[in-house]
Amino acid sequence: MDQTVTVVLRLVHIVGGVFWAGAVFLMVGFVIPAVRASGPVGGRIMQEMQRRKLSVFMNASAGLTMLSGFILYGRLITATGGAWARTTPAMVYGIGALAAILGAIVGGGVVGRGGERLAKLGEKIQAAGGVPSPEQAAEMNRLQTRVGKAAPVMAGLLFIAVAAMATARYL
Ligand code: HEM
Repeated sequence: MDQTVTVVLRLVHIVGGVFWAGAVFLMVGFVIPAVRASGPVGGRIMQEMQRRKLSVFMNASAGLTMLSGFILYGRLITATGGAWARTTPAMVYGIGALAAILGAIVGGGVVGRGGERLAKLGEKIQAAGGVPSPEQAAEMNRLQTRVGKAAPVMAGLLFIAVAAMATARYL
């Protein structure tokens, strides 16, 4: 029974983590640069991804990965009467977890919210004939710069998390 719970938690944790980190690497490395290079077409692709609930999938995978990770961590500590917490693997898993949490904060707070606002602004501009007012163009630029700066930071934090998770057990 205990073993089954661990297997289910690991399945949720690793599938969620692969989806979350993989999506962030793909977005930062390829999708965002391609969208920015494609002008109005890029804006439409962003909207279309949002319509297909990209942010819901990102938030759900991030949430499930962190929740299952905390439970796995807690179970390892209780199973060993606390002794595991002082081992090198526990510390490395902990560093990875911290990086993932910071990544989620930057991701949700700046990248996710900025992306949603960009998609909404794009819709408004399109509804008004496709030509942005000077204020709308300035707002678009401001949001794009903010998201453009935060997204690589998020990818870097998730890379640290993945690297820590991949190696911790053998350290
Ligand atoms: C991007 C985020 C994350 C990814 C991609 C990820 C990925 C992984 C992978 C692949 C493993 C298996 C490693 C192995 O068996 O050697 C693992 C294990 C583990 N992860 Fe994560 N993880 C992430 C975030 C977190 C967070 C936020 C926590 C919270 C504490 C956490 C806690 C753990 C623990 C405790 C294990 C060991 C599970 C066990 O073997 O019983 N992870 N993770």
